[in-house]
Amino acid sequence: MTTPTDAQRMEKIVSLCKRRGFIFQSSEIYGGLNGLWDYGPLGVELKRNLKNYWWRVMVHERDDVVGMDGSILMNRAVWKASGHEDTFSDPMVDCRVCKARLRADQMIEKKGVRQCPNCGSKDLTESRPFNLMFKTYVGATEDESSITYLRPETAQSIFVQFKNVLEVSRKKLPFGIAQIGKAFRNEINPRNFTFRSREFEQMELEYFCRAEEGMRLLEYWKEQRLKFYENIGIPRDTLHVKTVSDEERAFYSTGTYDIEYDFPFGRQELEGVAYRTDYDLSQHQKASGKSLEYFDEETKQRFIPHVVEPSAGVDRTVLALICEAYSEDEAPDEKGKMETRLVLRFHPRIAPIKCAVFPLLKNKEQLVAKATMRVARLDDVIGARMKSARRSARRSILKRSVRKTRACATR
Ligand code: GAP
Repeated sequence: MTTPTDAQRMEKIVSLCKRRGFIFQSSEIYGGLNGLWDYGPLGVELKRNLKNYWWRVMVHERDDVVGMDGSILMNRAVWKASGHEDTFSDPMVDCRVCKARLRADQMIEKKGVRQCPNCGSKDLTESRPFNLMFKTYVGATEDESSITYLRPETAQSIFVQFKNVLEVSRKKLPFGIAQIGKAFRNEINPRNFTFRSREFEQMELEYFCRAEEGMRLLEYWKEQRLKFYENIGIPRDTLHVKTVSDEERAFYSTGTYDIEYDFPFGRQELEGVAYRTDYDLSQHQKASGKSLEYFDEETKQRFIPHVVEPSAGVDRTVLALICEAYSEDEAPDEKGKMETRLVLRFHPRIAPIKCAVFPLLKNKEQLVAKATMRVARLDDVIGARMKSARRSARRSILKRSVRKTRACATR
């Protein structure tokens, strides 16, 4: 058996994803639409298992995080205040010969002269900013007053609902608001299968804290997120932490890590963990005129909290899980001849199918009925085990908090 190259491996993964019903090209029967994908029967189970596990670890198992689910369309003012309307863009260059529109950093340079990487022409336009947000109109009229955008990140709805969530959840700093949802970016050059898509899902946590805790929490969340990937079957030695340099980092951030994974097409970002300071809440407070301050009952101080944000891509993680699970081995076929098999070895936590009970004969009603019964029982057993595990976890949390309360009362 020869070992496939990385490019061959990626090609096999893409083809396997289609054949086995993980991922299809969107609108395929009409020729597709670049950068858009649909998840098939197995893909949707894998994706759901990933999102459910993220939610379990980041929200349900923590006392300091609550969830929310914001709308995709928001008032345009949100995108003006966040800076996305003015600055969420890539510099683009058009080739006047082959008409390709390309990112400025993709131009090739020979002896100081820029050339089109497609046709080699030097007849190029100056680079111009190209906003990555999809523009749309809300309501019956299509004019300046009805413009808004499909959200390019889920984070902003968390920031603009910060005060409402704080009031209803009665959380004290540090605490977080988590969200899983769709985001849209009109990427100039969607590529590497689902890695860079125009529609994708994010799993984001905005973890609010005091300014002095920001850098420590940045380290804390980086470590938590690395553990998460290991717990779903992405080994630590395939993950890399890149410290984003001052030049590359957003101007308001005082520290950002990219968690990268060794995809077959190279080492690429899975998740960003960023210390965004108090930039977002300050911007929205200024633009809306509504206070987004936190009142500290102990010190009687009012201030705008800082925030640390672990922001992961659902689709990129699904792709990493598939790449990691992909393996080839040899097994005998029906006639005993050795053949190469493609096997997906998923971690049981996220495997789309965890176990199956097969009747030995399909045409024996009694056997089929028995197998169906066993599957139903298996579901019950798994359900009951999970219930009892949750119950004992709740009991130990309760015991801990009773102990804490007693300790406070005796102080
Ligand atoms: N709120 C911060 C934020 O959106 P980002 O680094 O632009 O930060 C976070 O995006 C994550 O979203 C990335 O690490 C990646 O996993 C995912 N992501 C971003 N753009 C994507 C795209 N075009 N296709 C698929 N996933 C994408």
